[in-house]
Amino acid sequence: MGVGAWRPERVVTNEEVCQHIDSTDEWIRQRTGIEARGWADAGTSVVDMAVHAGAEALAAAGVEPSRVGAVIVATVSHPYQTPAAATQVADRLGATPAAAWDVSAGCAAFCHAVAQAADLVRGGTSEHVLVVGVDKLSDFTDLSDRSTAFLFADGAGAVVVGPSDTPGIGPTVWGSDGSQWDVIRNRTSWLEHRDAVAEAVAWPALQQEGQKVFRWAVFAMAPLAQQAIDAAGITAGDLAAFIPHQANMRIIDKLASQVGLPEHVAIARDIRTTGNTSAASVPLAMHRMLAEGQAPSGGLALLIGFGAGLSYAAQVVVLP
Ligand SMILES: CC(C)(COP(=O)(O)OP(=O)(O)OC[C@H]1O[C@@H](n2cnc3c(N)ncnc32)[C@H](O)[C@@H]1OP(=O)(O)O)[C@@H](O)C(=O)NCCC(=O)NCCS
Repeated sequence: MGVGAWRPERVVTNEEVCQHIDSTDEWIRQRTGIEARGWADAGTSVVDMAVHAGAEALAAAGVEPSRVGAVIVATVSHPYQTPAAATQVADRLGATPAAAWDVSAGCAAFCHAVAQAADLVRGGTSEHVLVVGVDKLSDFTDLSDRSTAFLFADGAGAVVVGPSDTPGIGPTVWGSDGSQWDVIRNRTSWLEHRDAVAEAVAWPALQQEGQKVFRWAVFAMAPLAQQAIDAAGITAGDLAAFIPHQANMRIIDKLASQVGLPEHVAIARDIRTTGNTSAASVPLAMHRMLAEGQAPSGGLALLIGFGAGLSYAAQVVVLP
């Protein structure tokens, strides 16, 4: 029903990232398509970012906060394991006593949260649901890690899901593969911090085996995208936009060509100036496409998220 976004003011160039790792602007552009990314300042929290994006989405949808029955925040970078960020987000938006919880499904979490929201509305549990994808990955990135420092970024995107006479969100196809739980993860657990009496333990920055993730994304996600298209009862030609998780421009290009998208389908390429914002990447890209007229309000978009877990989810939606 509405979409909102929050992007950091601070633009971090590839040159700045290369002050901490042995790399070049050219390599980063060629291998990822990223030219710059945004990092939030120290005083801006995941909750602050989510509140900004959520307020814009509610205003765009014309839904008063008091009519929100549930707030779902998709994130991996809220620095409290408990309580969830969502309760504060709901409170600061004036949606209390809405039910509120966080979803941890890495870069796939926004699509998981949209699936939950759609079923809550269909099932009559909630009339309106606010879904926020937010990550401040700069807090969980080791600036000297050559495999992640240039990828990760900060941002928030939000949508409002509510009742509709015609289906606005197609069936979600999703899943996970926990046998690969260790390929993208915090490098230390809280227990290691607890046990680190004498020895300093590394901050649990995110680490990944980039090639494994790349290969998995390229080979496993194209069939998932096709399943979501089939589940919605449409063909690729009916789509106006393809909005995949913004992990790497080469993954986006390969997925688009494997799904066989016709020329007229606009492809989200927000990663170029936004980087990989994990749970925020799909709604941020959606917001930009609508704001810049790359995709029409009311058009069909294929969303697909994939990442840590490994977790994945895809659905076709009507763009707000
Ligand atoms: C991380 C990623 C960009 C690395 O690209 P890649 O093409 O797989 O790079 P490789 O690790 O195979 O390394 C290729 C070469 O580049 C070099 N290299 C690796 N990182 C580099 C860097 N930051 N700068 C410059 N060179 C680098 C390697 O040393 C290697 O050199 P060699 O050929 O001389 O041995 C890519 O694997 C990726 O995007 N993976 C998906 C990650 C992702 O999306 N994760 C988020 C969760 S969805």
